Amino acid sequence: MIPAIKWEGDRLVLLDQRYLPERIEFVHCRNYREISAAIKDMVVRGAPAIGIAGGYAMASSVRECGETSFEGCYRYLREAANHISAARPTAVNLMWAVDRVLRKALSVLESAERAGTREDAALKEAYAAAVEEARTIEAEDLELNKKIGEHGARLIRPGSRVLTHCNAGALATGGYGTALGVIRKAWEEKKISMVFADETRPYLQGARLTAWELSQDGIDVTVIVDSAAGYLMSKGLVDCVIVGADRIAANGDVANKIGTYTLACLAHMHNIPFYVAAPSSTFDLSIPDMSAIPVEERSPEEVTSFFGTRTVPEGVRALNPSFDLTPHGLISAIITEKGVIEPPIPENLPRIIKG
Ligand code: MRU
Repeated sequence: MIPAIKWEGDRLVLLDQRYLPERIEFVHCRNYREISAAIKDMVVRGAPAIGIAGGYAMASSVRECGETSFEGCYRYLREAANHISAARPTAVNLMWAVDRVLRKALSVLESAERAGTREDAALKEAYAAAVEEARTIEAEDLELNKKIGEHGARLIRPGSRVLTHCNAGALATGGYGTALGVIRKAWEEKKISMVFADETRPYLQGARLTAWELSQDGIDVTVIVDSAAGYLMSKGLVDCVIVGADRIAANGDVANKIGTYTLACLAHMHNIPFYVAAPSSTFDLSIPDMSAIPVEERSPEEVTSFFGTRTVPEGVRALNPSFDLTPHGLISAIITEKGVIEPPIPENLPRIIKG
């Protein structure tokens, strides 16, 4: 698989996910503002992947800092962190990774200040440490996904027909994927007979990205329009649903791509297991439940036009919430690298995530 994110010298090279599968193009980001813009414009997308890109953006800002006092450096880096974190509001992995790299850079600068090191030398040292931290976040994510795959594959019964939504795969992470990590591992173990990928309107992450990356790996995948999911379930053609997550509240409520809640309701109605796969960096224990999760609204043009062709009459408005919220009561289990959180999710979550 072509990596979605690559740090090369002082640049971040991103596989441009807006054009897949039609064209393979890369965007070279030279500074933190370009990386933030690439996150906002969905060149790179998927919660863990935007976290990794955000981490590199934060590191890049340390190199770009031209302040000549320690106080100025601290202010500059905090402003950069706010700018990067604001690129997309729902996926908490972005803020988590930016904060982790910021803290690393600040700790190096603070020690240097205490030791009487000059600002320019301290910034060089802080930049090297920040890049290293971003690289660690990326490498860790790949490892976590493999663990999620192993834990999740145990839940899949032999011969399963699995439905997934959006793209929670290698393209959306440091590699391998969360929901698609489970599918990859269960496929390898020959437990899956079919994968259905929801098209995932309006951005088509399922049709374009999930179908692309699974077929690249030789995993047989069938794309359906989002509205076909209920029909397939009613016909007994889906054995379980697996999705990723952008943010999980302390009680296990989940924010994920628009359409996830609909699938959870349908799965509940048809008595089909509904699994969420996510690393611990997706958990936001500072918020008690889904009511505090900010849901990104994207441009109505993503709905009124279909790849450049207007499909809605001129003058008609469109609404485009990019995510929705699924209450924990509709979730059969949350699969993390630390283990599987089973119901009652609010009670079991702290033990697995904190312990
Ligand atoms: O708008 P996107 O494409 O960034 O949304 C992505 C999703 O909703 C994914 O399901 C989620 O981020 C999990 S990715 C492992």
